[in-house]
Amino acid sequence: MTNTTNVTTTIIAPSRRDMLAGAVGIAGASALGAATFALGEAIAQPAGLPVRRDIATFAPDDPQIAKFAAAVQEMMDRSSRDPNDPKGWLVNANAHASFCSVPGPADPDQIHYCYWFLSWHRAYITVTERKIREIAGDPSIAYPYWNWSTDRRIPQAFAQSGSALSNAIRFTPDRPVQDGEVDYFPDDPTLGQLGVAALAVRTFVAKTPSQIGRSFGGIARPNPAGRYGNNRLEGTPHGPIHNYVGGVDDQGNGGDMSDFETAGRDPIFFAHHGNLDRLWEIWRQDPARKATEPSTDDFVSHPFVFTWLDGTNIEVAAGDTLDTTKLGFVYDNLQVFRPNAPAVIAAQAVQNRLPPVATGKLRVPLSPQGVGAGERKILEITDVEKPDQLMTVGVYVKPSDAPASEPGTSVGTFAAVKAGKQIAWPSQTLTFDITAAAQKYAGQELTVELIPFRLRAQSAGPPVNYPPLKYGEMRIVTEQPQ
Ligand code: C2O
Repeated sequence: MTNTTNVTTTIIAPSRRDMLAGAVGIAGASALGAATFALGEAIAQPAGLPVRRDIATFAPDDPQIAKFAAAVQEMMDRSSRDPNDPKGWLVNANAHASFCSVPGPADPDQIHYCYWFLSWHRAYITVTERKIREIAGDPSIAYPYWNWSTDRRIPQAFAQSGSALSNAIRFTPDRPVQDGEVDYFPDDPTLGQLGVAALAVRTFVAKTPSQIGRSFGGIARPNPAGRYGNNRLEGTPHGPIHNYVGGVDDQGNGGDMSDFETAGRDPIFFAHHGNLDRLWEIWRQDPARKATEPSTDDFVSHPFVFTWLDGTNIEVAAGDTLDTTKLGFVYDNLQVFRPNAPAVIAAQAVQNRLPPVATGKLRVPLSPQGVGAGERKILEITDVEKPDQLMTVGVYVKPSDAPASEPGTSVGTFAAVKAGKQIAWPSQTLTFDITAAAQKYAGQELTVELIPFRLRAQSAGPPVNYPPLKYGEMRIVTEQPQ
């Protein structure tokens, strides 16, 4: 981001909180207290703070949503009159292009692939939400989230034609989101219970590059090794949902959400990231996990800079994103699946699958004694070559002598999203927890299949043909109980 010539106003910092409250008309920060909650438990919310609600819990004609959409519409109208209008939707959307679509994972401005990912996006949703509050003149407005674990299609409010909330380029495939795309593995008793496998992660900061994909928050930027990659949540479900919404057109181009340069233009971006942010909040209800969040000055004092409605820069310190009440919002519930929602079934029939882009056999046969108590078996696929097009790939394992009609067990998903002219790649080495499959297929040789998901609307013609994906080797490593 280069527009640092404007006056920088710190609006969200401990010393200026009173000013912030005055400026945007919200209730002052109230302490959540030291209460602790088990994962998945509903919590009582502090009174007086705007509540980010599941979009599906609003009535179709809810006046709050109408007001919300009208404010987004006004921002969009402003941008069509003047793309540089600081009150416009485009200026707001461009913040994402500036920090998420910069060349390569190692660029110092890049906030993906490192421990800024969750906190930067939390700050970004918050700034966007506050702009909408201001424009709508309603301090109680909060950005609704899309719980894709429960609702496997784009929610009605974001799909209704004519609404500002559906005003984006989308080539969403005509199928529901699959379990693997939202990181849900019902075949694994441990992970299935969590709803989103990333919630099994215990540590926020990756200490070494090899841990990035198994950390909740990513690695420090800068870091001595200069190596970056997607954290557990950022890989999946984050990437696959971007690709699902954006989809692919008949030329192979993606929609707004399939490209980090344009993703912030789609109003559903903030509803998608709202749910990721809520998962972070769920994860950190466990004090032991929360304690692993970064507390070094490098992290805490780091400012994230955004353009405010009057064209000046505003700052959000990364450390101030660690408490949502400081930012002025809470979530309506902290359960992965929406309480009382009907169970989701989204299995993809084997005969509808695309051919694999890679297969491999695991050289290590698994014995029944192979998995010790608390131990996890991790499939590593090393040196995976970046494709030159966007894609989402499911990883399946099955016994090598199983027939072709046997779908195998889904153990994970990874996605190549676009970032301008480049492909945003999760990391060179991809890791998948295959513990349940390792137990189920104990003693047998396993075949691993990498199968792309259909990202093209059925009406757009035949599915895209994906060239083979090259990789170094596939191996199983054992992760000891932590
Ligand atoms: Cu900065 Cu979902 O992207």
